[in-house]
Amino acid sequence: MQRTPEPELMEGEEQALAYAAADFSAGDQSLIERLVELFPQGLGDGLLDLGCGPGNITFLLARQFSGSQVVGVDGAAAMLHLAEQALAAEPALQQRLSFEQRCLPDPGLAGGYSALVSNSLLHHLHDPQVLWQAVLQLAGPDARVYVKDLRRPASPAAAIDLQRRYQGDAPPVLQRDYLASLHAAFTPEEVMLQLQEAGLAGQLQVAALEDRYLEVWGQLL
Ligand SMILES: C[S@@+](CC[C@H](N)C(=O)[O-])C[C@H]1O[C@@H](n2cnc3c(N)ncnc32)[C@H](O)[C@@H]1O
Repeated sequence: MQRTPEPELMEGEEQALAYAAADFSAGDQSLIERLVELFPQGLGDGLLDLGCGPGNITFLLARQFSGSQVVGVDGAAAMLHLAEQALAAEPALQQRLSFEQRCLPDPGLAGGYSALVSNSLLHHLHDPQVLWQAVLQLAGPDARVYVKDLRRPASPAAAIDLQRRYQGDAPPVLQRDYLASLHAAFTPEEVMLQLQEAGLAGQLQVAALEDRYLEVWGQLL
């Protein structure tokens, strides 16, 4: 089916609260385990989580990679507010974890990170090059990159099938967003073309993951 973009930022308060309250812990934890598997030498000293939302992945990164400084950026104030609230409740992480409200593309964002991670941002972007250009802008030497996102199903019926299977019990706002996200997502073939356009195809790999995701990973040269 054709891609139908959705709004980029998740700025609605109800939307942000519903997202933050949802239990994505199994998928979030498997992302961390995948990072450990793909990059057994670690992620280096500076990690950036692009499109961090309420910080689900950002907090896990800070806990897993205890020698790293971790920054989460997101353009939505409603999401960042929830991330900051959660950080206020975790004094032990406050020296190493921070959040910034930044809407990509943002040429003012300083780079040099040893690892860039992004979960479920790509499908929000009307122009996917915004993510790949951010990777080029923000990566330090030899940076590790890991991007995970939904992949677009073949048909509207297949999208509804996934929505029923994985979000059937979720609040209506999340069910609506999930279906919109499936329609807005890219296919692995489209992402490969995006990487070629950005000059990243020789450095990053793309693959389908499970029945509804895609992942992009690699270490920059
Ligand atoms: C589906 S949420 C994912 C949040 C988080 N990464 C996670 O895994 O839970 C997507 C996030 O990307 C943010 N976002 C979308 N477009 C953005 C942009 N151009 N710049 C910065 N953040 C953006 C949204 O505001 C939202 O918080």
